[in-house]
Amino acid sequence: MSDGARSSAAVKSPKKQPLKVRLAVSFLSAVLDATRRSNGTINRRLLSFLDLRTSPNPVSHRGVRTVDLTVKPSHKLWIRLFIPDVVRRPQPLSLIVFFHGGGFAYLSPDNPAYDLACRRIAKAIPVVVASVNYRLAPEHTYPAPYEDGIDVLRFVDSGAIDAVGEDLVNPSSCFLAGDSAGANIAHHVARRWAAAGVGWKKLKVSGIVLIQPFFGGEERTGSEIRLARAPLVSTERTDWLWRAFLPAGADRDHEAANVFGPKATGELEEGFPPAMVVVGGHDPLQDWQRRYCEALRARGREVRLLEFPEAIHAFYVFPDIADGDRMIQEMGSFITSHG
Ligand SMILES: *[C@@H]1O[C@H](CO)[C@@H](O)[C@H](O)[C@H]1NC(C)=O
Repeated sequence: MSDGARSSAAVKSPKKQPLKVRLAVSFLSAVLDATRRSNGTINRRLLSFLDLRTSPNPVSHRGVRTVDLTVKPSHKLWIRLFIPDVVRRPQPLSLIVFFHGGGFAYLSPDNPAYDLACRRIAKAIPVVVASVNYRLAPEHTYPAPYEDGIDVLRFVDSGAIDAVGEDLVNPSSCFLAGDSAGANIAHHVARRWAAAGVGWKKLKVSGIVLIQPFFGGEERTGSEIRLARAPLVSTERTDWLWRAFLPAGADRDHEAANVFGPKATGELEEGFPPAMVVVGGHDPLQDWQRRYCEALRARGREVRLLEFPEAIHAFYVFPDIADGDRMIQEMGSFITSHG
């Protein structure tokens, strides 16, 4: 494909999305806009009427059962475990510690869309998923969710999941995954895990899966300019979300956002795990995500880049988009080859 053809394909609007997906994306964008205030706070009261929740189901439903476990009561930190029925389980399953998206400020593991996404992942691979209810901005800013991620890894390392079922998971085959802001969290938790070095009993982070990670910077990339008014992650919304999450006075070149940018050390810990990165062709964040892959490669790290040219941001949480199933299959093969 010539460069000209490629750029005209890239500016094409995502017409092929099913009606259900377009309605859901418009609704979510409207919820974002109605609940975030210009003074940087979120109207949580209004949000509580729009934000549906699901209960755990300890008896298996369509091949997966779920259990909520408290990790740290003082931080209201808990995880929802998704445990697939596996008829003949020869050995403990790999564990995915999963961080949901929502711009660091929205959503939770019991949101119906994320409950369903984690079920699909747990069942298809199969793998046990622990979806993390980390603290949200702007009430809790950087580095609260990164610290919550480490607290969950300590919880797993202590063997606390055995309370649900002996030998359910193999802590030496642990993966961190997430989408959007959750993928940003997975990256930073992996760094903190690697920096802690030998401080772990059994837990090993064998890989990270970053689905359309939310990275950014002061610069406007080509895809941000081209897709500035995209649903969910328009530039205006992402700027607001960074202000809500980053420490007071920081700009988007803070290391949390621009991880290999001018204000970052640019270093990566020795034990930083292999990565799989998922990129969508209609996502304004795609240029930051490709740069991230290049930066990992430049540091000699293993990266598997998976591109979906037709994908919008958050595509895989909509079961009507077939690329989601392909992505989950690829996650499975990444886990099999690194677990
Ligand atoms: C932000 O605005 C809301 C609604 O006007 C108000 O209730 C809240 O106190 C304000 N918060 C700050 C930190 O200014």
